[in-house]
This record gives sequence, C-alpha cells and structure tokens, in this order.
Amino acid sequence: MTTTIELDEGEYYVQSRYATARVSPSGYLYNLGVHVDHRGNGHGTALMRDVCAFADRLALTLTLHCRDALVRWYEQLGFVRADIPGLPGTGVGMRRAPAGS
Ligand SMILES: CC(C)(COP(=O)(O)OP(=O)(O)OC[C@H]1O[C@@H](n2cnc3c(N)ncnc32)[C@H](O)[C@@H]1OP(=O)(O)O)[C@@H](O)C(=O)NCCC(=O)NCCS
Repeated sequence: MTTTIELDEGEYYVQSRYATARVSPSGYLYNLGVHVDHRGNGHGTALMRDVCAFADRLALTLTLHCRDALVRWYEQLGFVRADIPGLPGTGVGMRRAPAGS
C-alpha cells in the first residue's frame, strides 16, 4: 500500500488509501485515522511504519498523545511513554527516537 507524505501548509500530510495523519515539523503526530470501514486490517500499522521510516530518514523524534487503550499499539511501533510538554494534546504522551540515535 502506497503512503504519500507531502508538505502542506508547513506540516507533513500523510496519506494512504484508507489512512491519514498529520505530523508537525517538530515531529508531533496527530489526527491519525483509518477509514471506519477499514479498521483492524493493518492500514494504521502500515501508515505508522512508513511515518517512522520517514522520521528516521530526517532524524526526527516523533511525539504524540493517545488514549490508554492505544499505548501498547504504539509501543509495538517503537514508541515509549514520555512527557510531552507544551503541546495541546490530552492523554498519554509518547515519543519515538529515530533509529540510530
Ligand atoms: C487506532 C487506529 C489508527 C488503528 O489503525 P487500524 O488500521 O485500525 O489498526 P491495525 O489494523 O493496524 O492494528 C490493529 C490493532 O490496533 C489496536 N487497536 C486499534 N484500535 C484500537 C482501539 N480502539 N482500542 C484498542 N486497541 C486498538 C489493537 O492492538 C489492534 O489489534 P487487534 O486487532 O489484534 O486487537 C484506527 O483504528 C483508527 O483510526 N481509530 C479511530 C481514530 C483513533 O483512535 N486514532 C488514533 C488517535 S491517537
């Protein structure tokens, strides 16, 4: 499944056939969503793997906030719980350092 990542109004707009997300230039990921008819089929994982590979190429640390229920899902993608100060999101803060850092 192809994922495109394009700069749009100063932010990275990430899109595949059924999933989308936004990433700020500082690496804050938000608005991740998979089309409601296509959840649980790996599209979210595939999109996030491509975002992580993109972040690795840029040596960019990714951060996000998520619901408790999704902490394990993000941990499987390499995120760890972390304080994310100064950002508006609510929920559990998570961070993923780029590979090789
Ligand atoms: C969360 C989301 C991005 C995951 O993408 P997806 O393509 O549905 O998920 P995948 O098929 O890649 O992975 C499935 C796994 O995700 C986890 N997961 C997905 N939705 C979950 C939920 N609501 N609660 C808990 N775990 C969830 C589970 O571990 C699941 O594995 P399982 O099917 O064995 O239980 C998608 O379901 C979605 O858009 N949800 C609504 C919006 C949202 O919550 N966005 C994230 C904001 S931080």
